[in-house]
This record gives sequence, C-alpha cells and structure tokens, in this order.
Amino acid sequence: MKRLVRFTLNGAVREEAVADNILLLDYLRDGLGLTGTKTGCDGGECGACTVLVDGQPAFSCLMLAGALDGKTIETIEGLAEGGRLSVIQQSFHENLGAQCGYCTPGLVMASEGLLRTNPAPSEGEIRAALAANICRCTGYVKIIEAVEKAAARLRGEAAA
Ligand code: FES
Ligand code: FES
Repeated sequence: MKRLVRFTLNGAVREEAVADNILLLDYLRDGLGLTGTKTGCDGGECGACTVLVDGQPAFSCLMLAGALDGKTIETIEGLAEGGRLSVIQQSFHENLGAQCGYCTPGLVMASEGLLRTNPAPSEGEIRAALAANICRCTGYVKIIEAVEKAAARLRGEAAA
C-alpha cells in the first residue's frame, strides 16, 4: 500500500506517494538519491542515519517515510548554500573532525540540531548531544573541537 505525504525536504515542499513500509532512510537514499545520509547499524544504535525532523535530530532508520506528512526534513545535502559548506561542515573539515567520513553526515546533523537550540554548549553538553553518534576513527576529540569552534564562529566570536 502507498500513502500520500506532503512534507518539506531541504526547503522544498514535496508531495509523494510512499510505500507504507519504507523507512525514511531507504526512501532518502534509494527513492530520492540523497545518499549523504548513511546506513550503519540499521537499528537505532549508531547515528549514521541522523537527519533533522522539525529541527530535531532523528534516526531515519527508525522512522517510516509514511510518517512524514506535515513535517520538515533536513539532510546533509541541505546544509551547504551556494556551493559553500555550512559553518559546521567547514569546522569539521578545518579541525579534522572527519577521518573516513562515514559517521560525519550524522554527526554534522546532530551538531546542527544542538547549536540551533544551544548556541554556547559546554563540552559536556556537546558530548551528551552526540552520544548516540558512533565514530570508529577519530576518538571524538577533534569532533568536539570542531563543534566548539563552529559554535564560536556562529556566535561571531571567531573569524568566518
Ligand atoms: S543506521 Fe540508524 S542509528 Fe544506525
Ligand atoms: S570518521 Fe570514520 S567513523 Fe567517524
């Protein structure tokens, strides 16, 4: 069975018929070609599939696309503007917050969700906000630094 859903994806309103049983993660990747959102554990354990739903980080592997009606979805593809990385993306790049990069889209989206609600998070608050996002490469120190520096830049306390 399919159902009609109307939602906003990366700033554009869409109306689509989606299968009742398709996960948001699979819909984004296989249905729309938005492969920036990664499949990791496929079971709510790793955070690789994190997107923003109504501005809040959410695991797209735990949500059905059929539940999108009326919601606003943001994926990693929606962050860059005019070919320029967002402040958080740029900070991950500059501060070596990514190694293999597989976890990075999920971490960037979780960080984006955090900094929208808490523009000056402590290290502990950053670690808590990213606790559900697993990285096997970096040891997290560079990721935390990247978020701290992005936050400072967004507050106008560091050079853009
Ligand atoms: S793929 Fe969704 S939490 Fe791991
Ligand atoms: S950079 Fe490789 S898993 Fe995080």
